[in-house]
Amino acid sequence: MTSSNPTSRVAIVTGGIGGIGTEICMRLADAGRQVIAVDLATRGERIEAFREQVSVYNGAIRFEPGDVSDFKGCGSLIAHIERSIGPADILVNAAGITRDTSLRKMDPQHWHDLMRVNLDGVFNMCRHVVEGMTARSFGRIVNLSSVNGQTGQFGQTNYSAAKAGVHGFSMALARETARKGVTVNTVSPGYCDTPMVAAVPHDIRQQIIADIPVGRLGTPSDIARAVIFLTADDASYITGANLPVNGGYFMSF
Ligand SMILES: NC(=O)c1ccc[n+]([C@@H]2O[C@H](COP(=O)([O-])OP(=O)(O)OC[C@H]3O[C@@H](n4cnc5c(N)ncnc54)[C@H](O)[C@@H]3O)[C@@H](O)[C@H]2O)c1
Repeated sequence: MTSSNPTSRVAIVTGGIGGIGTEICMRLADAGRQVIAVDLATRGERIEAFREQVSVYNGAIRFEPGDVSDFKGCGSLIAHIERSIGPADILVNAAGITRDTSLRKMDPQHWHDLMRVNLDGVFNMCRHVVEGMTARSFGRIVNLSSVNGQTGQFGQTNYSAAKAGVHGFSMALARETARKGVTVNTVSPGYCDTPMVAAVPHDIRQQIIADIPVGRLGTPSDIARAVIFLTADDASYITGANLPVNGGYFMSF
């Protein structure tokens, strides 16, 4: 296996063309990483806009189509990235969807569709990078969870379960890789000003903002900052941790 190169580490970001994912890609590139944004091939217009947006990075950020819910597809994608660019040193799992509805109206499709992306997707990607990372004695994995995984949210039994699961998964994997130079952490955003939250009805959004001690929604850059911190080469003693970035919306220790 080729050894990784600390000066130009390869970072894969799933959901990489999304509201938060795009910002993470740009900040990782600013930190000198070679970034691959993985997202659904079906998002044609957004893919073009993303390519335009990151063109100033002169090739340091590339787009690769991929569906995180497809186990075999994730394997082929990672093999392709490792062959053509280099070993995966950093993995940020930011792909996510919502399928909100109260449990009494939730059908199995709402449940399974969400689990396949938000939870299976994390397994599918980690499963294919972890062996290489441990063999090379370096890896940084950050999985995007959510404040709603910590508190639960009305209409989100599926989402809250998946996001709580993401942290359980991360703690368990952190134990398995701790002696091999691979850290695994979660970042739990609060409510951020992204398309996902723009879809929440106006009056509910205003109530949410009123309940945030900092007095505003989070920004993708607030979240990217935490990801950059946890993926730094010298962040080697933080593993199995959850870093909440929620403007004080939910405080605990
Ligand atoms: N926006 C928020 O307020 C907020 C709060 C808490 C947690 N989060 C989490 O942060 C992450 C990023 O959220 P966002 O606000 O950028 O959402 P977003 O909808 O803007 O981006 C999510 C991205 O995931 C991609 N995606 C969906 N299914 C996929 C699949 N099967 N394979 C590959 N890519 C897929 C989408 O195409 C999209 O680009 C998500 O995991 C989300 O659950 C967001």
